[in-house]
Amino acid sequence: MIIHPAASLSGTVSLAGAKNAVLVSMASCLLVDGVSVLTNVPASLDVYQMIVLLESLGAKISFEEIAHRLTIDTTTVNQVTVSPEIMRKMRASVLVMGPLLARYQRAHIALPGGCLIGLRPIDYHLRGFAKMGAIIETQDQFLNATGALKATNFVLEYPSVGATENVMMAATLTSGTTKIINAALEPEVLDLIAFLRAMGAMIEITPPATISITGVSVLRPVEYAILPDRLEAGTLLATVAATGGSITIPDAPAYYMEVFLEKLVEMGHSIICGDKQVGITMVASKNPRAVSFKTMPYPGFPTDLQAPMMVLQTVACGESIISETVFENRLLHVRELQRMGAQITINGTTATIKGVDQLYGAQVIASDIRSSAALVIAGLIAQGQTVMAGIHHFRRGYDQLETKLQQLGAVIAIEQKEVW
Ligand code: UD1
Repeated sequence: MIIHPAASLSGTVSLAGAKNAVLVSMASCLLVDGVSVLTNVPASLDVYQMIVLLESLGAKISFEEIAHRLTIDTTTVNQVTVSPEIMRKMRASVLVMGPLLARYQRAHIALPGGCLIGLRPIDYHLRGFAKMGAIIETQDQFLNATGALKATNFVLEYPSVGATENVMMAATLTSGTTKIINAALEPEVLDLIAFLRAMGAMIEITPPATISITGVSVLRPVEYAILPDRLEAGTLLATVAATGGSITIPDAPAYYMEVFLEKLVEMGHSIICGDKQVGITMVASKNPRAVSFKTMPYPGFPTDLQAPMMVLQTVACGESIISETVFENRLLHVRELQRMGAQITINGTTATIKGVDQLYGAQVIASDIRSSAALVIAGLIAQGQTVMAGIHHFRRGYDQLETKLQQLGAVIAIEQKEVW
């Protein structure tokens, strides 16, 4: 991707459906026997990868990309094995484990892959399934989980999004009431709960963070619209905050973005939210101040917006300290930003950034979805041309984001298609 320096960007754009919500909703279609329909589905590479995975299990899928409508027929599912080739491409593949176990009492999956943002083990998922009575063995590069599940109280030592989703899906068809204590309550988890409830699941949330699932004997297929992507909204806001200008995102779920928006305001950007906190208009400050923050599980500052937000700090007035507490290795973009002239020092998982007057275009490599977005933003404010390799990461997480940026006035070109 070739990114040219941009003058200020301005305009109105709308969001795609949330990537992190659609992947798990697709996996949960395995819980039913029938034809489910998901709408507002982003045409991002991870969605295509999940289609490949579900088809490998026997599902029949059609994706109307322009209508963003995905139809998943699970009546033909006849497999519980997911190959290493499929698992390696995307960590979210592990999310089929809970539905397969619940429905077929067996899941035989290769160990998952994904972004280079840390060790990202799946021990919490496996502990949850084991607590529900599954017998889990590793054979070669496969995990084999078997057994009829039973309800349990499962305490998560950390509110893992994926483990909460996986155990919750498994519990929907498990007789009795399963409790997930210290559950993740990210908006995408809440969207999954809404989807599962629409299918007939019985799920309650008790403060501060317990999810109780009472198993039902059968769930029904439904049509469901995926929520708009708060992380795409954050990426777009960060882009315009960096370049200057103004942006309106009419469908932005501001009610899920409080801490991020607060930080933009602290930097000096002006933000107005629509009725009921739906829709955001931002006018970027011409002299933004540096702010510090720490990533946290929701409702804290989202780790997925750490990299885009860091770019803003590289040219802000003053010093910023950013602590990444969710993933131990999600600072790989720092090296690339340094190559563009950013003054950043790292101590463990904390980055200290001194704002400079100017970044400079360079050849950079994206290593995960959000770092790819950060490098695009950096390219837009750098002097000279930036060439970013690893564009498939950008495509994994975003549907047509470069087109939206072009509509706002950015000059971005794709030189050569990468084979993923
Ligand atoms: C999901 C999101 C990702 C987001 C993250 C945190 C999807 C497809 N991806 O990832 O974009 O950045 O939530 O909001 O929804 N951990 C363990 N053992 C486990 C599971 C997790 O140690 O079994 C650790 C991870 O290494 C990480 C932390 O827990 O340090 C949080 O991970 P988790 O919340 O599970 O993230 P994901 O579900 O992988």
